[in-house]
Amino acid sequence: MNISIVGSGYVGLVTGACFAELGNKVSCVDNDSKKIKGLAKGIIPIYEPGLKELILSNAKKKRIKFTSSIKEAVGASEVIFIAVGTPSLDNGEADLMGIENVARNIAINMQGYRLIVEKSTVPVETGQWVKHTIHSYIKHNIKFDVASNPEFLREGQAINDFMHPDRIVIGVESKKAKDILTSLYKPLNAPMVVTDINSAELIKHASNSFLAAKISFINAVARICDKVGADVVEVAQGMGLDKRIGRAFLNAGIGYGGSCFPKDLDAFIHISEKLGYDFSLLKAARGINQQQKAFFLNKIKDVLWIIKDKTIGVLGLAFKPNTDDIRSAPSLEIIKALQDEGAKIKIYDPQAQDKGKEVLSNVKFSKDAYALSRGCDCLIIMTEWDEFKELDLAKIKKLLKRPIIIDGRNIYEPRQMQKLGFHYVGIGRGRDSKK
Ligand code: UGA
Repeated sequence: MNISIVGSGYVGLVTGACFAELGNKVSCVDNDSKKIKGLAKGIIPIYEPGLKELILSNAKKKRIKFTSSIKEAVGASEVIFIAVGTPSLDNGEADLMGIENVARNIAINMQGYRLIVEKSTVPVETGQWVKHTIHSYIKHNIKFDVASNPEFLREGQAINDFMHPDRIVIGVESKKAKDILTSLYKPLNAPMVVTDINSAELIKHASNSFLAAKISFINAVARICDKVGADVVEVAQGMGLDKRIGRAFLNAGIGYGGSCFPKDLDAFIHISEKLGYDFSLLKAARGINQQQKAFFLNKIKDVLWIIKDKTIGVLGLAFKPNTDDIRSAPSLEIIKALQDEGAKIKIYDPQAQDKGKEVLSNVKFSKDAYALSRGCDCLIIMTEWDEFKELDLAKIKKLLKRPIIIDGRNIYEPRQMQKLGFHYVGIGRGRDSKK
């Protein structure tokens, strides 16, 4: 099929590359012409394992191209995906200006039947607004369909998530739209949920909010574990073996970040309020997530006592491993709070340092975990990169001024760390010992 993806951000690029890999002809559109020029030369603006290779090989086969002309893309494709950003406004509401703008431009440039598919995460009833917008701006009596096809891919494993999804959700209003989308996704051989547009939009918001609430739940349990000397990792294991609960997303830590959960929770809370429902459960989940950062800071203070003039080595900036994304990363807030108290900050992250340099000041970046550790009063772990799990801890111990590790992602075993002579503090791993 000839497909256009409007918006060459995270979701747009991964979707475009994967549809091309499945044999479709894809035009990726973005109004950032610098980005488009770069993409045409093989410069990929984000770090995502496997994405660059996929884009380059499909560009070679002429199955993917990049343009800043929405007119050209609309002219060439029967199916147009909207994958532009929906950032948060100050009141938490999703900013749908980008979506409206694209819908308008599609309408103006449409010459024949088109299926317009929302891929961006949007509040319920956005599809109806997109339909209304297209109707208002369309020139002739051209037929079109609007559909919702939310994306569930995770950063860091996006290609695999796209190619092997747990489910594909399609919200449609006509048989034609259903047939086009089901045949487009047929090669993936995944379970499909075909429903109405509002339900499809809600599936996305409800899924992200549920996962975020699951994380906040285990973070709250971790607080109790610390008070009574229980181990949250074992509690999660015991809970997770119950198939109704499942082990995934029960990792306690410094809270969720990224470009999705914080924004989507805000948007879902906001739209619920607008519809006359106070979604207090989600407000509590959001509150716990916020407190988790303060809780981690207190752990650091409990060990170091005075923060001023202490050199703190930060392992990990990204909001999760295998990405260079630091949007709403808990690490940023924690680093700033430590700086406010007078700490000297050193940082090492395998991928996110360049992005970190753009937003952090008065920090030193190190070339690896060993260079980072030299002369630090303690190490704090903010991202569970695999390479941190494989560090030579005996070497790290020698390099540190004091053998202290405060682990916001529970990547080490407390007993093992104690044996190695560390003062090790995790999240919900039992009562923290004072030294
Ligand atoms: C999330 C969803 O998982 C995807 O299904 C969805 O498509 C995406 O949002 C989106 O809406 O675009 P993503 O934000 O890439 O994906 O990352 P996750 O793997 O979900 O992690 C989100 C945050 O939760 C991270 O900060 C991570 O460290 C944290 N987390 C995750 C925990 O603290 N504990 C866990 O057990 C799991």
